[in-house]
Amino acid sequence: MSAPNSDFVRACKGQPVDVTPVWFMRQAGRYMPEYREIRKHHSLVEICKTPELAAQVTIEAAEILDVDAAIIFADLLLPLEVMGLDFHFEAGEGPVIHKPLRTPADVTQLRTDRAAELNYVAESVKLVTRHFGSQLPVIGFCGAPFTLASYMIEGGGSRSYVETKKLMYRSPKAWDQLMSKLIDVLAAYAAEQVKAGADALQIFDSWVGCLSIEDYREFVLPRTTELVKKLRSTGVPIIYFGTETSTLLPSMKDTGADVIGVDWRIPIDKAWASIGNLGAVQGNLDPVLLLAEWDLIQERAADVIDRAKGHAGHIFNLGHGILPQTPVDNVQRLTDFVHEYSQKNRGTTKAANIDWFGDGQ
Ligand code: CP3
Repeated sequence: MSAPNSDFVRACKGQPVDVTPVWFMRQAGRYMPEYREIRKHHSLVEICKTPELAAQVTIEAAEILDVDAAIIFADLLLPLEVMGLDFHFEAGEGPVIHKPLRTPADVTQLRTDRAAELNYVAESVKLVTRHFGSQLPVIGFCGAPFTLASYMIEGGGSRSYVETKKLMYRSPKAWDQLMSKLIDVLAAYAAEQVKAGADALQIFDSWVGCLSIEDYREFVLPRTTELVKKLRSTGVPIIYFGTETSTLLPSMKDTGADVIGVDWRIPIDKAWASIGNLGAVQGNLDPVLLLAEWDLIQERAADVIDRAKGHAGHIFNLGHGILPQTPVDNVQRLTDFVHEYSQKNRGTTKAANIDWFGDGQ
């Protein structure tokens, strides 16, 4: 860990802070002219694989926005390559996996012995933590087994996840093997990021909201719990995020994650209550609101902060990533507003009830 006493890390652990910490998913991205300039000369994957560039993009975004944490610049899909699935990004279309998994035999072919080849991400983390020292915490991340499996099986984004669910329902043994292989690679990959100085890890389960509670609990929860346990043993707090998860939040909390990331479809106090007001929460302004007039942005941001008031352990964020059309100025103003408003309007704060050491104390 490079900044263990930062407000962000304290909030992840449910400890009281004076000012609500804020950062944004996709805070480095196409809405920023500085990022677009680098993208003129390098592809997305090239930036990810060149630690100097990835670190530059990470640092620049965090400094321009004056946020309370820097998320390492990488992509969710990088582990696919070392497992034997090649992909590329189609301009404006998103990722395309060349030969998606469709049969149990395809799953058997996946490799788990090449995770060390992802160490360029840990190298980027090292450069960023060296730059910020204890001034700013760095967030490492990886995909969740379900969301990564969905890309591997569908071959890209999907509306109804038919092929993913088909494999899950019809070939439970292959599904289990796929989950195990992903957990092995992701645990090794994330542990390297922590060794390199990351202060927290976020697990992105972006598309898990397509599952019913029953299917989540049967096919996904036990395996995600296993991953959370492994990542938690690195000693840093774990943030577990998904979208369209209003009905899944209590089950997601059962994974043991320290922080639950919430999208905008549920008020944050209701989300928190649904997990027994345990631990910390992160969110949850609609990213599209950043395209609204400032008065409305401010009103809705104040509402999020007011709803979370009175508990320690709120990290302000959007409910999903910043969109490419977003004015940078609105993101900067929002960061300042969260800091000022939360400091002025702080209620009496109870420490959140987190079993941080896992010993019931
Ligand atoms: O948040 C950050 O600032 C760190 C960087 C980051 C990227 N991808 C870089 C990126 C992070 C945290 C991710 C995670 C990621 N990648 C997720 C989970 C978050 C989420 O959005 O739910 C997912 C699903 C992916 C896979 C992915 N990567 C998709 C579907 C796309 C295409 C969609 C799009 O926005 O174009 C990407 C491309 C991508 N990854 C971009 C960035 C900045 C934009 C494309 C570019 O620069 O060419």
